Amino acid sequence: MKGIILAGGMGTRLRPITKTCSKQLLPIYDKPMIFYPLSILLNSGINEICIVSTPKDLPEFKKLLGDGKKFGIDLTYFKQLKPVGIADVFNVTRKFIKDSSVTLILGDNIFFNFDKDQLKCGDVDGARVFCKEVSNPQRYGVVEFGQNKMINKIVEKPSNPPSNYAVTGLYQYDKNVIDYVGELKPSKRGELEITDLNNLYIKENKLHSVMLQKATDWFDTGTFSSLFEASKYVHQYQMKNKKPIGSPEVAAINSGLVKKQEMLKILSKENNQYSEFIYQTYKK
Ligand code: DAU
Repeated sequence: MKGIILAGGMGTRLRPITKTCSKQLLPIYDKPMIFYPLSILLNSGINEICIVSTPKDLPEFKKLLGDGKKFGIDLTYFKQLKPVGIADVFNVTRKFIKDSSVTLILGDNIFFNFDKDQLKCGDVDGARVFCKEVSNPQRYGVVEFGQNKMINKIVEKPSNPPSNYAVTGLYQYDKNVIDYVGELKPSKRGELEITDLNNLYIKENKLHSVMLQKATDWFDTGTFSSLFEASKYVHQYQMKNKKPIGSPEVAAINSGLVKKQEMLKILSKENNQYSEFIYQTYKK
């Protein structure tokens, strides 16, 4: 299982703050947004990961995360020349995926209390989507259920949602994903839609849906309000529990990618509040 974090796009909805800075590098309380989806992948022990972003922003991600050695992983980087759709990420990363199954996570999707066992870390058969009940389904890809709670189809941003179950920005696909993407046609808005890709898997009876647990909280930080709410959540959690949340350093330790003592040594030299907090929490 390989991992992809999609962190491109124009961030137009969050202008002016995204005029000069990639959306996925904006702070969510004490860390850049991309740390959160990266932690989800690391927690599941996925250790071959690539980051996809715009030619303009990609160097900033490289500066932040390097070659991944600090986290015990292999990190590579791919440019998406134009934001022509989420499903286009598989065209961009064809050479990286080769014959593997792949987990895609959107760089602006933040999950808290995610049960890592819900994510498969070996090969998958077909595709897997992760759904969550929401109060505002119009903003998302929404599941239409048929008989026996099977998914009939997924509808992208419907004005009359067929259910309250949104498809979150976390997906797993088998190695055939590149062939399926080859069948996609651009939508009315000119994009290769992830929802169209998932509907192709449904047609073949190969889409499995996973309901996120009630305890899992999910933020798609596409609005100022959700950006703020996510920061507030992290601040309150860390104050109350006296431990970091959404930290790839911690995820790397917990999943055995890096030895605790090794990570503590690195953190002790970094001399900032973020590293100090992790160091103090885990040195005991
Ligand atoms: O957050 C979950 C939702 O994500 C799903 O429920 C929807 O089905 C799915 O279409 C997507 O909806 P969004 O409206 O959030 O998609 P958006 O176009 O904002 O893209 C999501 C992220 O992916 C965003 O941070 C930018 C990045 N992106 C997007 C496109 C279209 C790219 O890096 N390249 C692209 O070409």
